[in-house]
Amino acid sequence: MLRTLFMNLCTSLVLISALASTQARAEDAHSYAKLDEVETPHLDLQLTVDFAQRELHGTATYTLVRHGDVDKLHMDTSELTIEKVELISEQGWQATSYKLGELHESLGRELVIDIGNVADQVRIHYRTAPTASGLQWLTPAQTAGKEHPFMFSQSQPIHARSWIPIQDTPALRLTYNARVITPAGLLAVMSADNSLSAERSGDYQFSMPQPIPPYLIAIAVGDLEIKSISDQVAVFAESYIVDDAVAEFADTPRMIEVTEELYGPYRWDRYDLLILPPSFPFGGMENPRLSFITPTIISGDRSLINLIAHELAHSWSGNLVTNASWRDLWINEGFTSYVENRIMEELFGKRRAQMELALGYQDLLADLERLDKEDTVLNIELGTRHPDDVFSQIPYVKGQLFLVYLEQQFGREVFDKFLRQYFDDFAFQSISTEQFKQYLSRELLAKHPDKVSQDKIDEWIHQPGLPEDAPKPESDAFEQVEKQMERWLKGAQLNTEGWTTHEWLHFINNLPRDISAVNMARLDSEYNLTNSQNAEIAHAWLKLSIIKKYEPARDRLRNYLLTIGRNKLVAPLYRELARTADNLKWAREVYQQAKSGYHPLTQSVTESLLYPDG
Ligand code: BES
Ligand code: ZN
Repeated sequence: MLRTLFMNLCTSLVLISALASTQARAEDAHSYAKLDEVETPHLDLQLTVDFAQRELHGTATYTLVRHGDVDKLHMDTSELTIEKVELISEQGWQATSYKLGELHESLGRELVIDIGNVADQVRIHYRTAPTASGLQWLTPAQTAGKEHPFMFSQSQPIHARSWIPIQDTPALRLTYNARVITPAGLLAVMSADNSLSAERSGDYQFSMPQPIPPYLIAIAVGDLEIKSISDQVAVFAESYIVDDAVAEFADTPRMIEVTEELYGPYRWDRYDLLILPPSFPFGGMENPRLSFITPTIISGDRSLINLIAHELAHSWSGNLVTNASWRDLWINEGFTSYVENRIMEELFGKRRAQMELALGYQDLLADLERLDKEDTVLNIELGTRHPDDVFSQIPYVKGQLFLVYLEQQFGREVFDKFLRQYFDDFAFQSISTEQFKQYLSRELLAKHPDKVSQDKIDEWIHQPGLPEDAPKPESDAFEQVEKQMERWLKGAQLNTEGWTTHEWLHFINNLPRDISAVNMARLDSEYNLTNSQNAEIAHAWLKLSIIKKYEPARDRLRNYLLTIGRNKLVAPLYRELARTADNLKWAREVYQQAKSGYHPLTQSVTESLLYPDG
């Protein structure tokens, strides 16, 4: 009786505060969740990792917070087998009824659970499919060590639902605990409080006490070693690469320091880096406390570590202040690209930061050419299209340029103060583009009148392309490269002394499309570009080789496609190969060989390029 009274009191208190927080909540077209009815602010996961079956199985137990008189909980699933659903009651756990909806091609299936009127916890028993879009399973042969298997998750944007039944919208924030059972000898890690202990019991516990959106729940299991960079930062990696990673990413502690100086405290305790196998489909993923990182940025000269700055920056923009829906992705990625570049400037100076900005700008211009006009809007209209199908540089670089523009108009000092306050004011909240616009008008435009008009803000956020007065990043270093190129094309020697990866990328990306076979061979023999061990330089060179039918690079191209699964590096190569019949045939053969080593995302992107008609 007393307990019920107390629960009712709590429910009404929660109700009042929840009503206040749901007011501005926009709809998320990519989730079946109805947060205005019930929220799940805490998850308890119990999972067994079964490599033989390629499945996770176990239970997800949620705390329920009801907003009013509701008896249904709407969740997201994809390819999950639901075995049983239970509600907590005074008699303990009792089975309840549930329904799985029709399959939607990008959203998966809705799970509707009968939660009665009082239960404050629900437990779902389930197993994943071997084809789960958010997991990759690697055989021992597909790892560097060759002895143990490896598995990892990639939940962003809407793949958490393929390994956890969940209200899979970034508008939700939840804490989680987990217990994970693995084969003995393997280590499990999560986006949580990972232990640095060397013990490999096969039974691991985790806790993420800060509320995060579902897409930041992450897991990986493999034969991992741990080496510290500092008191706060360690590398988790297969032994073949752990020392290289520690050396490559030695600047990480300094990156944390400068970001704290600019934007306030790092609020997540440790910041560790997990090095994935080369099939990891992204460059990096900002899983809280443990960024997931591709090994393809370990080049030996720290030239690609802006990616670490980027994933770290998400600890403020993205993980602390989160996009409320995938239409608002620029709130994560635009802010993060901006912060990333500021970190790089602090650590390495203006010249390098400016080169990186200019490289991003060129990628943006290419995407502006390639994309439908409507898809070049920051606050993009996605409908129910899968966000993975619309992935582009728009939220990243156009978003970044918008912030560079604001910085230029208001001055760095004012803008830095504004951003720092923004991270404080929205800490641990998910916000929509509309909420950001209101905040910007109130806290920046109104306080510094006549600098930027509301119309200009609307143009940046709601119009396609770039405003006419958008910043056009230029780099002195790149101008020097262009001058060298001109002379070289007329037969002079190239002087590449002091060139970094950035200059090489600018050089290769801007070689004339009608460059002669002789000049290609001349470059290659002098600089051995075909065999470059820098994955970005090799990528740029191999792409040009396809266009120029430069055959001596063929074997390297095949090997590259067979060993790397990072989408950004392989998709443009397949896209280029698909343009001629001979190359397409060759690419399909290579893909058939590569496929089993690719992540589900890389498989589906590659198949859309090589088999566009299905
Ligand atoms: N969060 C993104 C990756 C992502 C975005 C996955 C949207 C799924 C949907 C991550 O922080 C990222 O942007 N990675 C980039 C890094 C680069 C911009 C430095 C990548 O993987 O290339
Ligand atoms: Zn990012």
